[in-house]
Amino acid sequence: MSDLSGTTAVVVGASRGLGRGIASAFAEAGAQVVAVARNDRALTELSQTSPNIRVEVADAADATLAWSLLDRYRPRSLILVAGANPVMRPLHHQTWETFSVNWHTDVKFAFIWLREALLQPLPPGSRVVVVSSGAAVNGSPASGGYAGAKTTQRFIAGYAQEEARRADLDMSVTTVLPRMTPLGDVGRRGIRAYAARSGQPEAAFVRQLGNVLTPEIAGSALVGLVAADPSTVAPAYLLTGAGLTPAP
Ligand SMILES: NC(=O)c1ccc[n+]([C@@H]2O[C@H](COP(=O)([O-])OP(=O)(O)OC[C@H]3O[C@@H](n4cnc5c(N)ncnc54)[C@H](OP(=O)(O)O)[C@@H]3O)[C@@H](O)[C@H]2O)c1
Repeated sequence: MSDLSGTTAVVVGASRGLGRGIASAFAEAGAQVVAVARNDRALTELSQTSPNIRVEVADAADATLAWSLLDRYRPRSLILVAGANPVMRPLHHQTWETFSVNWHTDVKFAFIWLREALLQPLPPGSRVVVVSSGAAVNGSPASGGYAGAKTTQRFIAGYAQEEARRADLDMSVTTVLPRMTPLGDVGRRGIRAYAARSGQPEAAFVRQLGNVLTPEIAGSALVGLVAADPSTVAPAYLLTGAGLTPAP
């Protein structure tokens, strides 16, 4: 495991699923972790697993939160993993409100936090990781606007990287696109819907996904990513149970 001692990581969306695994892995690697989410009880439980984890109970979309936390903690690593659970229904069973939910959450979070990371800016050598989805490559016909929202996250992470370069900021922005996994609520609900859609039992559907991506694998992959020499880092990676591979 890479050594992140002496650094601070803000993990937005750390109370459960992939974000919890990422927060734990950063703490294990020696980083001081600021775990952000709305569920006080889940965050408190997480903080009891490591002296390196402190919690901030808050809504990631709060108008002043990104400014306030980035100003207070000056993190070297900023991990944006928070996202909403899409309503798992085919297109014509969505309403506009359900279709657009991930635009008002996931895209908004990425926009607000990337904007603030550029404006402050984060300290030299900082690393920002935006957790999008494999759906941004493959589409996701049973989750409304989810795949499009996750694609937009990837686009704006790229725009932020370009603005950082233009402003001569020593800051890297990378997108990570996880494969569906039952070990996070977003994937669990997706698997249930796609298994039913294809007439398969859930277990069989999960088997065909290959090695299951666990929160621990996600955590160690992201620790490795932020510890790597930035000149060797690709703009975007697929994340599966086998780890990271550069995204098409
Ligand atoms: N699981 C998968 O198969 C999969 C696959 C591809 C991509 N992804 C992406 O990976 C990310 C995590 O997925 P997951 O399955 O681990 O999700 P999850 O189990 O539903 O966890 C989502 C996390 O985001 C936080 N969150 C949501 N809204 C928030 C808000 N307004 N403010 C602060 N925190 C908020 C939640 O905390 P609170 O509810 O406590 O606020 C929770 O910690 C998502 O962006 C998802 O789209 C997941």
